[in-house]
Amino acid sequence: MSESKKENKAFSIIERRGIFYPAFDAYNASSGFYDYGAIGLRIMRGIEGAWRNIFIDEMGATEIQTTDIVPEIVLKASGHVSTFTDPVIGCKTCKSSFRADKLLEEYYDKKHDKEGLAALRKFDKKAMQAKITEYKIRCQRCGGELQGIEDVNLMFKTHLGHGTDNVAYLRPETAQGIFVDFKNLFRIYGLKLPAAIAQSGKAYRNEISPRQQLVRMREFHQMETEIFFDPADEQKRFNSIDLDALLSKEISFVYRGGKESTETLGALLKNGRIPNKLFALCVYMEAKLLDTIGIPKNVYRFREVEKEELPHYSKGNVDLEISTSYGWIEVSGNAYRTDWDLSQHAKLSGKEITVLSNGKKITPHVVEASIGLDRLLISLLDNAVQEGKDRGWEWLNLNESVAPYKYAVFPLQKDEKLESAAANLQARLSENRVASYYSVSGSIGKRYAKSDEIGVPYAITVDFQSLEDGTVTVRDRDTAKQARTKIGDVK
Ligand code: GLY
Repeated sequence: MSESKKENKAFSIIERRGIFYPAFDAYNASSGFYDYGAIGLRIMRGIEGAWRNIFIDEMGATEIQTTDIVPEIVLKASGHVSTFTDPVIGCKTCKSSFRADKLLEEYYDKKHDKEGLAALRKFDKKAMQAKITEYKIRCQRCGGELQGIEDVNLMFKTHLGHGTDNVAYLRPETAQGIFVDFKNLFRIYGLKLPAAIAQSGKAYRNEISPRQQLVRMREFHQMETEIFFDPADEQKRFNSIDLDALLSKEISFVYRGGKESTETLGALLKNGRIPNKLFALCVYMEAKLLDTIGIPKNVYRFREVEKEELPHYSKGNVDLEISTSYGWIEVSGNAYRTDWDLSQHAKLSGKEITVLSNGKKITPHVVEASIGLDRLLISLLDNAVQEGKDRGWEWLNLNESVAPYKYAVFPLQKDEKLESAAANLQARLSENRVASYYSVSGSIGKRYAKSDEIGVPYAITVDFQSLEDGTVTVRDRDTAKQARTKIGDVK
């Protein structure tokens, strides 16, 4: 049994139903890549749909789609070419490479050493090497000695056209496309500050040691929102949203150094942990997204990132973390990117990137909400597993917004009349864009088990009584109770 199987509560459902699975498995070729099957893709689209409802429709961000391949100059400007690195240590014997910080993280995790973990966030390369030697941490493949930490760039490099002069990279974040397009979009859409631009799409990082299934992959899906604003302006509203009204929202918050408490967004603004009200808006909207897709409040928190851990562009980060079988995992990073990106692109492109605000030309500042869709999905599944001892099978308690289907439609048994009535119901639901699936194979009990296990909220059974009085049974996944309902009322 692999490490992931033991660690992830949802693993047997994920594997049995092909929710996602290793890519290129037949060749056993590479780790860090996963394909989504039909059920997983539907769940993923449900989460992405909830993000779109909240960040685009409700908040009013402008959604765009930019390219995955990015010319080198763009990523030189953004700082990724020079600073987007991880500390990598090599094995003297078999030459395997490992993330030095992750080796230490695992060591402290196993020892339940919270202080060690907190100290690790501040370690430089020298301190990491010293601890790896002191704790006698060895190569995970051959047990050889580990030595010599180097900063290794995480981007996938390629070349445009033939030859090797024209360097480009797969984008390490979707955000840069937004920054480069910002000025044109501002003009074309007649935007006014504060304004948000968002995109949902793939990003790529050549992780040294991908692991924990969707948690650390080389190709993954981000949903990023960049809010551009004038730092000299007092921010009271964002589109139709009254920002002051959000400040009474309570969240679970971990301060630098580890102190955890429940705080209002207003208190965090006052004590400087949150730099401004637009940053508070990002946090508020993320909490709303989690509530919408059904992540329980007691399993997520926001964490103030230690100074030493901040990305090169950030003046302050607050990460959204979810508790899973893998421990707390970072699912979103909220960053105050200041005017770093726009100023850098102006410098290297030689084009002015300013807009008018209150009659003055300014380079806007940016706060960002960067959500990892795959991590959100695996956290959701991990927290949704119900043991179901009383019914004899495990199942997912996904809510309607993310369940792959709202209904399963079953004829009680193989019978022309029952099958025809059930198929008609399923066809009517599909015409009305209500997601459902039809199945006639296997016993009705097995079919309930299969629909429960992928989180379908309701199973409809068409039986012989249905043919007489036009009613069906509706079985509630969570209670396993059934009620008779008129077939026309199933919507
Ligand atoms: N845009 C932030 C990140 O990708 O980490």
